[in-house]
Amino acid sequence: ASPDVVVVGSFNVDHVWRTDALPAPGATHGGEYASGPGGKGFNQATAAARSGARTAFVCALGDDVGGQLARALATADGIDLRDQRSPSPTGTAGIFVDAQGRNSIVIGPGANACLDTGFIDAQRDTIAAAGVTLAQLESPIEAVTAALRHARDTGRLAMLNPAPANVAVPRDLLAMADLLTPNETECAGLFARHLGERIDGDAVAYLDSPRLHALCRDLLPGGTVVITLGAAGCFVSHPDNATRGDDTAWYRLGAETVAVVDTTGAGDAFSGALAAALATRPGEPFAALLRDASRYAALSTERPGAATAMPTREEVAARFGG
Ligand code: RIB
Ligand code: NA
Repeated sequence: ASPDVVVVGSFNVDHVWRTDALPAPGATHGGEYASGPGGKGFNQATAAARSGARTAFVCALGDDVGGQLARALATADGIDLRDQRSPSPTGTAGIFVDAQGRNSIVIGPGANACLDTGFIDAQRDTIAAAGVTLAQLESPIEAVTAALRHARDTGRLAMLNPAPANVAVPRDLLAMADLLTPNETECAGLFARHLGERIDGDAVAYLDSPRLHALCRDLLPGGTVVITLGAAGCFVSHPDNATRGDDTAWYRLGAETVAVVDTTGAGDAFSGALAAALATRPGEPFAALLRDASRYAALSTERPGAATAMPTREEVAARFGG
């Protein structure tokens, strides 16, 4: 069967230390160590699959234990893995998580940096058959652009989670996206780069809504922007002429109150769950899909880890009601 969602992106082995505070230069801390699966791409693919979407995951893996882990986990979650074998080691991330659940991350891209455009082009039929293709920025920009271009050329939804914030999104990649899901920091970076608007990341959530909507319209004239605001929920901006059902052009949506343990991968949970909802629940108001994606992400923060923390849709329904 063809997939509902194709995720193109990274797989990392996450090495995580939980410590009281994030270390400053020169400081040494004690912490509790764990390792587990991560990478924005794999986290999002896991979220989409556990949300009930048939999911394919396109990535590059090394010929090592990390690659074996990815294959075993994809099989366990029913993810259709399309992996390019790379001579580089499988991607890694070093993650510190503090007592408030905040994190600092260093990435070793390894094989992820080798994902090539030819390999993406070979997935064109899969992309053409899926409802939604979702990508992030931990893979080469050319590969990400090619994936979204195939989705767009075949009339499918092209979704970009423009993360992490330190990677610049070129204009021709932005132009391929029908739906963009930045967090505040990523959003501020996009406004600065593409609109010349300097707004502090922390200030994005507090911008007046019509102003934020106007900026989103300038950034992505033909597409929808969903800015994730952590515990404050999200802000949505649709093209003015393309609202769905009961939706208005822009609105804010609050988040559920949760007992945060680890926010690593919360943005991935949101994008993966939203992609799954868009692909499997056509015709439902966008706001209803968003509410469920937001609940999905909220529940993921109550558990440690990244991909491992992704709940099933049954667990989300049990926690917050259907
Ligand atoms: O978004 C969280 C992810 O970012 C982690 O799993 C880590 O691997 C990094 O890619
Ligand atoms: Na988590």
